[in-house]
Amino acid sequence: MGERFVSAIDAADLAPGGMKTVQLEGREIVVCNCEGRFLAVERRCGHMNAPLEMGTLVGTVLTCPMHCVQFDIATGEALAGPVPHDTGNEPAPPKLGGLLANIAMLMGHIQTRAIRTYATKVESGRVWIAL
Ligand code: FES
Repeated sequence: MGERFVSAIDAADLAPGGMKTVQLEGREIVVCNCEGRFLAVERRCGHMNAPLEMGTLVGTVLTCPMHCVQFDIATGEALAGPVPHDTGNEPAPPKLGGLLANIAMLMGHIQTRAIRTYATKVESGRVWIAL
């Protein structure tokens, strides 16, 4: 079966630089307005599933709120890897330091995958997404 466009949001409801989550037929998708160009990607980060609409969008680069992996949402490709948790110049209390070291060790074993992108079109004032 070929792709089929489904109506998602009013184009006027999403300002440039904005992101909006929609649920379409059981899929979580983030619609992004990249300076007037609408792009859509799966909602879950390709690193550890964080909700990407809580991140930041600059141009077509979406930065995950959790460990700052950056994705090019035009292609879904991960441009930069995760950044471990950091307590800055303050030494972490021993228990917290141990926890952060353990998380950093585990993160070293996690691969970041590209995120899925969806084709979009704007028609009749609505953004449509191809499922
Ligand atoms: S969950 Fe997104 S960078 Fe880790």
